[in-house]
Amino acid sequence: MIEFQHVFKSYGRSRNILADINFRIEPGEFIFVSGPSGAGKSTLLKLIGGLEPPSRGSVHVNGHRVDKMPRRAAPYLRRAVGVILQDMHLLQDRKAIDNVLLPLAVTGLETRLANTRARAAMEKVGLSGKEDLYPVEMSGGEQQRLAIARAIVNRPAILIADEPTANLDEESARRIMQVFRDFNRVGVTTLIASHDRALMAAYATRTLRIDAGRFSDIKGVHP
Ligand SMILES: Nc1ncnc2c1ncn2[C@@H]1O[C@H](COP(=O)(O)OP(=O)(O)O)[C@@H](O)[C@H]1O
Ligand SMILES: [Mg+2]
Repeated sequence: MIEFQHVFKSYGRSRNILADINFRIEPGEFIFVSGPSGAGKSTLLKLIGGLEPPSRGSVHVNGHRVDKMPRRAAPYLRRAVGVILQDMHLLQDRKAIDNVLLPLAVTGLETRLANTRARAAMEKVGLSGKEDLYPVEMSGGEQQRLAIARAIVNRPAILIADEPTANLDEESARRIMQVFRDFNRVGVTTLIASHDRALMAAYATRTLRIDAGRFSDIKGVHP
């Protein structure tokens, strides 16, 4: 469950990017966050992932108040929410499998078990056999799927992805969406920021739209 109550967000002393945002997302939903560039899509996702604090209001994730979370609770949130940022932050000097292993390192999972889990995560996104490649040796779509594998290796209940298909051709974008749908089908709550109308027309069931400071919660996709 994700709930925003009267959430405001501004950076420093600038205008409000988000103003009095209220919504509730039930477990297992599949949601798009849409709006033009600069509208606040990334900001909204960052509030859910605890990567930015709201300026006012409350953000609940799985019954925890993210905005009141002490620093030591951050590992909880990192496990509960898988985050795929726009710039994927893959480590270029590490093999694909080692990128996926990274989030497991802090959990203290035994090496062999961690390896099995990382391989399983790569298999789920269709990257079996690419474990020993470096990110630079992979296509854009494969790198995006690698970022997804890294985000889901800790089995989060919530997955948030910031414009995951932005730089991909149609076929790769379709494949990425299929990966998200597969995770959603097994119960993972999924939020995807996008401004790709065709993509949303094909996949959206509910859209949170931000446009010029106005917020709307739409069934399906906006016209
Ligand atoms: N860390 C930051 N500091 C100051 N301003 C920011 C920061 N992050 C985003 N902004 C501003 O907030 C607005 C919304 O940004 P963002 O959430 O990235 O929008 P979107 O993802 O929809 O393009 C933009 O005007 C952007 O310049
Ligand atoms: Mg953005």
